[in-house]
Amino acid sequence: MSPSLHALVSSLFVAVVYAQQIGTNTPEVNPRLLWEECTLPGLCKKVNGSITIDANYRWTHNVGGYTNCRNGNAWDPTICPDPLTCAQNCAVEGVDYSSSGIATAGNAVTLTLNTVTNSGPRIYLLSEDEKTYQMFKLNQREFAFDVDLSQVACGMNAALYFSEMEAHGGNAPSNKAGAKFGTGYCDAQCPSGDNFFNGTANMANSGICCNEMDIWEANRISNAFTTHGCMKDGPYTCSGSGCQGQCDGNGCAFNAFHQGRPDFYGPKMTIDTTKKFTVVTQFLTDNSRPTGHLSEIRRLYVQNGRVHQTPPTNVTGMPGFNSVSQQYCDAQRKIMGASNLFDETGGMKPLSAAFNTGMVLVFSLWDDPSGGMTWLDGPGAGSCTGGLDTSGGPSVNVTFSNIKFGSIGSTFL
Ligand SMILES: *[C@@H]1O[C@H](CO)[C@@H](O)[C@H](O)[C@H]1NC(C)=O
Ligand SMILES: *[C@@H]1O[C@H](CO)[C@@H](O)[C@H](O)[C@H]1NC(C)=O
Ligand SMILES: *[C@@H]1O[C@H](CO)[C@@H](O)[C@H](O)[C@H]1NC(C)=O
Ligand SMILES: *[C@@H]1O[C@H](CO)[C@@H](O)[C@H](O)[C@H]1NC(C)=O
Repeated sequence: MSPSLHALVSSLFVAVVYAQQIGTNTPEVNPRLLWEECTLPGLCKKVNGSITIDANYRWTHNVGGYTNCRNGNAWDPTICPDPLTCAQNCAVEGVDYSSSGIATAGNAVTLTLNTVTNSGPRIYLLSEDEKTYQMFKLNQREFAFDVDLSQVACGMNAALYFSEMEAHGGNAPSNKAGAKFGTGYCDAQCPSGDNFFNGTANMANSGICCNEMDIWEANRISNAFTTHGCMKDGPYTCSGSGCQGQCDGNGCAFNAFHQGRPDFYGPKMTIDTTKKFTVVTQFLTDNSRPTGHLSEIRRLYVQNGRVHQTPPTNVTGMPGFNSVSQQYCDAQRKIMGASNLFDETGGMKPLSAAFNTGMVLVFSLWDDPSGGMTWLDGPGAGSCTGGLDTSGGPSVNVTFSNIKFGSIGSTFL
């Protein structure tokens, strides 16, 4: 590169220093989380990863001061006259993880939900460099983890899923905070609450859409795994009614209870949710290679050394499915009246493409005191009657552990 060109490029970089800055009050120390990458059964390599909490959970204040950039829905007009200046003027802080309801130990992470304030954390897995998210390319791969959700009751959701976030958390290098500080969240509900997106403040409350694969949305009563495709590769923004139909928000879900198998999953059932068990999800392609197109998503469980396949559907008119595929989703729409957005967004295609690019691993634990979790555990979907079961007290834990990722059949035998 010629010196003059080098000077020009450098000055361009200096000019583009917008995006949220790094706070200096609390250092960010990302808790370690070990996981494993496997090629054959028993042949796994340990990966020394770490986690970060979402940027929205962090104190965000003016650079060098203590004034909040945003109070509720109102941005401070002095610090934030416009999205770009706001990002230049605002810093996101490090957090104290234990007081945020997050603890890791070896290969386990425990999330704590406060059922009085209805607040639980959302975290992401970072790669070993601690600067970018760990990217998972899921086609013709398998993902396994252990879960103890014996405390997670009706109206709560212990979730483990993949989001098509960008590895650097949005617009590197101008986003100083980046993935280490949990920036760049998106999902198939096109959430509009992100404080910052792609290096500027989200003062217009734009929705941030992207493909999402829900491996695990669950409590001790019910669980579902669900595809959520979008019209475009994400993340991308939408606004107001323009967000409608961008993504398959309901998704194509497999919940054994909903599929006529009420005795499979729950306390003292085939998969006994009073104890820890292993959840394995396989993403199969049409040519049985990572280069193929995603065609089927299979789930199996391991508990007490026994492998349990997902039981086949027991619904009049659509018997015999025990995985998610185009055929299953079509049958579910025709027989059970599910939405058509699965097909309108392209069936399995958007996820197949996102799995090729790589997805970010997300964990969260949340509740809905207004009874809005009935899609997961209420009449038809589970044995809960609606509402939030707080009989376990104000503090509820879920522990995810023993995460393994690799070739089909390599993670659980
Ligand atoms: C993981 O990395 C951290 C930071 O580099 C180091 O302190 C720790 O000892 C490592 N742990 C393992 C098990 O390799
Ligand atoms: C992020 O910002 C960059 C630079 O302004 C732009 O090229 C890119 O399209 C933006 N990405 C998204 C997802 O909006
Ligand atoms: C299949 O569905 C029927 C009718 O809902 C139910 O009575 C039966 O218990 C179900 N079978 C299994 C094995 O869950
Ligand atoms: C929840 O987890 C935290 C952190 O590991 C622990 O201190 C606390 O005792 C646990 N609470 C319950 C009810 O298990």
